[in-house]
Amino acid sequence: MRAVVIDRFGGPEVVRVAELPDPRPGPGQVLVRVGAAGVNPVDAATRGGLFPGQPSFPMVLGWDAAGAVAEVGPGVEEFAPGQPVVAHANQFETGVGLAAELAVVDADGIAARAGTTTAVEGATLPTTAMTALQALDALEIEGGRSLLVVGAAGQVGGFAVQLAAYRGVEVVAVAAPADADEVLRLGAAQVVDRGPTGAAEARALVRGGVDAALVAGGDAEAGAAALAAVRDGGRLASVVPGSAPPAARGVTVLEVRVQRDGRQLRELAGLMGEGILTARVAATLPFDRAAEAYDRVVAGGLRGKLVLVP
Ligand SMILES: NC(=O)c1ccc[n+]([C@@H]2O[C@H](COP(=O)([O-])OP(=O)(O)OC[C@H]3O[C@@H](n4cnc5c(N)ncnc54)[C@H](OP(=O)(O)O)[C@@H]3O)[C@@H](O)[C@H]2O)c1
Repeated sequence: MRAVVIDRFGGPEVVRVAELPDPRPGPGQVLVRVGAAGVNPVDAATRGGLFPGQPSFPMVLGWDAAGAVAEVGPGVEEFAPGQPVVAHANQFETGVGLAAELAVVDADGIAARAGTTTAVEGATLPTTAMTALQALDALEIEGGRSLLVVGAAGQVGGFAVQLAAYRGVEVVAVAAPADADEVLRLGAAQVVDRGPTGAAEARALVRGGVDAALVAGGDAEAGAAALAAVRDGGRLASVVPGSAPPAARGVTVLEVRVQRDGRQLRELAGLMGEGILTARVAATLPFDRAAEAYDRVVAGGLRGKLVLVP
């Protein structure tokens, strides 16, 4: 099978498509015939050497995929060959990457691909939507409350806006003016410019400040600005490494790292199948343009996810 691999850490030059032996599923595992693999910022970071533990080369990249079940391992009863699925693997924990024609995934990293969700659409979902959902849960945000989302036009931010709006939360989106229509379409009630006056604008929109803020884009400065928009005693969660501000005014500050969770993945895949979550695809690229895809993710300015297809 063909797979997107690196043979060592480094720049775009270390990425190549390799022919590897077909993997087989072990007990509790599912072999997925991959139709599409989503690209995340973590893939570019991994390529560059951000990898906890001992790396094993050639290393297949990729945390997200969608396709169909090719084979189930012993003890797996909830999936059957041919079934359309989405798949998530936390490569930092498993060492396994999913940008391959065939990928072995633990059964709790698989969910049925519901409704009319295509493989390309499904591949946009797992890591980013689970991160968004886990951040909202950490913020304990419920209907009737207000939430600021920084980076609202991004992948994590966009799913956070959609999930929060679905819960009945009043979302104030921080985004570039060119993205205002997009974040309103996703369910934001208000949009403020991501420039230096955004936090003050948000605080003026919601008397006393928003109940909670999610930092899903930007840097430490954006994190500090988000904190300024939160009411005394509210909550702030950041998913962007290095952007969480020091706590102040009784605001609880949390750093969220995505955890695999099969129940949440099934819930999110179901919501996409029902049309409650929208997949946003910037471009679909063949495996042999993977190096370019990682560079484009680092460069920013994408609107939607890059998806690799075999
Ligand atoms: N903690 C975790 O487990 C976890 C999981 C997934 C992702 N992440 C991290 O979460 C971040 C977002 O990931 P993603 O996949 O959603 O990336 P993304 O799609 O690129 O989204 C980031 C968004 O933030 C915007 N942005 C950049 N600078 C900003 C600023 N100063 N103020 C407001 N918005 C700003 C970007 O706009 P432009 O494109 O115009 O720059 C983009 O719309 C990344 O740092 C990623 O590594 C963490």
